[in-house]
Amino acid sequence: MFPANRPRRLRDNAVIRSMIRENHLSVKDLIYPMFVIYGDGVKNSVDSMSDVFQFSVDKLLDEVGQVVALGIPAVLLFGIPEKKDGHGSGAYDHNGVVQQAIRAIKHRYPDLLVIADTCLCEYTSYGHCGVVKEGRVLNDPSLELLAQTALSQAEAGADMVAPSDMMDGRIGFIRKALDENGFEHIPIMAYSAKYASSFYGPFRDIAGSAPQFGDRRGYQMDPANSNEALMEVGLDVREGADIVMVKPALAYMDIICRVKEKFNMPVAAYNVSGEYAMVKAAHKNGWIDERKVVMEILTGLKRAGADVVLTYHAKDAAGWIREDYE
Ligand code: PBG
Repeated sequence: MFPANRPRRLRDNAVIRSMIRENHLSVKDLIYPMFVIYGDGVKNSVDSMSDVFQFSVDKLLDEVGQVVALGIPAVLLFGIPEKKDGHGSGAYDHNGVVQQAIRAIKHRYPDLLVIADTCLCEYTSYGHCGVVKEGRVLNDPSLELLAQTALSQAEAGADMVAPSDMMDGRIGFIRKALDENGFEHIPIMAYSAKYASSFYGPFRDIAGSAPQFGDRRGYQMDPANSNEALMEVGLDVREGADIVMVKPALAYMDIICRVKEKFNMPVAAYNVSGEYAMVKAAHKNGWIDERKVVMEILTGLKRAGADVVLTYHAKDAAGWIREDYE
């Protein structure tokens, strides 16, 4: 009891504070999401995602060079195809835009971990994560296409696949397809607890993946639920997920914490586009200190239980972490 106990003694100066600090953000915890588009010499921006671009493969390589130079160990790739169709065929095209990007990156930067987002929403004309019939997103017919997508990504050289569609049974389906084709060593990072969130708005601008009718509440989770998240993670773990993801991150820190405590698996947190855009907007207005806020957010996600964080702030954060150590 006070006055014998004074927690402020260990807050007195920077040395002592850093000595007893419980959680540390490292550059090695970061995954940088990137968007690749058809064409040559293309670098497109969208208003809602400042400093994030759609790059054609040639330009993407320059950007990846910066990512590598900053010590960021992994990127997550999303594709914007030339054409969309009813079956999202661009997603599993051997020569699709993501497949081309994977080959080019692995050729130039063999040590960078290249993760492919496995989904159909950027590739289907309806903008849904599965195939649509009579206004419904069908589960089982989508599984075959998702497995084909993951397989084509592994064939192109992806080091990991990350299914983000939220169809039931997809992890087992993809695991089986990978195993049967000699890719049993390729891990799956499952978007296991993925919520039907309004924080994905800016992503849909840059990925061109907004649903053309309805919304995603028929397959992504209800933001009000948390026990269900544990059930979803449990299913994915049994089906063969190697890393489980919670998405979005900030309004779902309780989920990150519960998943880590219950499963003790590697947990990823996706600090999504809307979370990024809010920080950028407030910073542009001079209302917050971007650097301090970003470091607080990312460290907070680690404290909650995330082992890795997917974030559009990765390049900035990597630079700041390095400066803090120098
Ligand atoms: C595709 C996918 C989405 C995101 C990642 N993969 C969008 C969605 O489900 O609508 C969102 C990422 C972000 O907002 O940063 N299924």
